Amino acid sequence: MRLPYLRKAAPDILATARAQRWDPAEVVRVLLQEEVVGRDAATRRMRRKTANFPTGKTFSSWRSEESSIPVATQNALMTLEWIHRRENLAVSGASGTGKSHFVEALAHVAIEADLRVSWFTLETLTATIGKAKADGSVARTVAKICGCDLVVVDDIGMLPAGQDAAEAFYRVVDAAYERRSVAVTSNLHPSGFDSIMPKTLATATVDRLLHHSHLVATKGDSHRLAEALAGKGVQPLV
Ligand SMILES: Nc1ncnc2c1ncn2[C@@H]1O[C@H](COP(=O)(O)OP(=O)(O)OP(=O)(O)O)[C@@H](O)[C@H]1O
Ligand SMILES: [Mg+2]
Repeated sequence: MRLPYLRKAAPDILATARAQRWDPAEVVRVLLQEEVVGRDAATRRMRRKTANFPTGKTFSSWRSEESSIPVATQNALMTLEWIHRRENLAVSGASGTGKSHFVEALAHVAIEADLRVSWFTLETLTATIGKAKADGSVARTVAKICGCDLVVVDDIGMLPAGQDAAEAFYRVVDAAYERRSVAVTSNLHPSGFDSIMPKTLATATVDRLLHHSHLVATKGDSHRLAEALAGKGVQPLV
């Protein structure tokens, strides 16, 4: 046992303990507590890194009142109870309406709550499953992805999705069905996924995805365009 966090904090804690004449049991308790807190924080840091988040955006930069998602819905999703119930989340709406930001912020809350998250775009998921196919490790790769409590597939429908993408998406949604939460973002409502990917696979995937899914629609104009037009998209050069 290397107890790195305990050792780091020990000099200060022992000095305080001596000065304030702590009970020895209290000293041990505080030292062990330091180690536990340090390890938990390290685990969360590691999980945040392996989740592969796209931007690092959280609720600290989210303006809930500017989103078209009802605040009550936002708050209910923030409790993460839907993840504990292994339910899914599908956020659909036009470009720039905060779909990815909102889902990433939720995913960060999940990490803080000691859950595991894996973030993909449909493109990176397809590449990951494609690579696994080449070395015969698809089942292992899908099992590893579904070892997470929340699997996010962002940006469905941005690029045309062929057989490979539809198959990768199906494999993960099928493996996660009633076992893990899947969150997707798309410009399309999931019922329209068959217009961008092969119909049979799309139907089977959407059937599983929607069975226990919260459907959230984002409306309105693009935040990107609004910020750009307000001159807030860049730092002034001079
Ligand atoms: N309610 C909000 N509060 C703060 N920032 C927001 C909000 N909604 C959107 N944004 C910002 O607007 C930009 C676009 O949001 P985001 O990337 O989440 O859009 P999107 O719906 O995923 O778009 P796309 O379909 O093009 O991927 C981001 O910089 C995001 O941080
Ligand atoms: Mg997005």
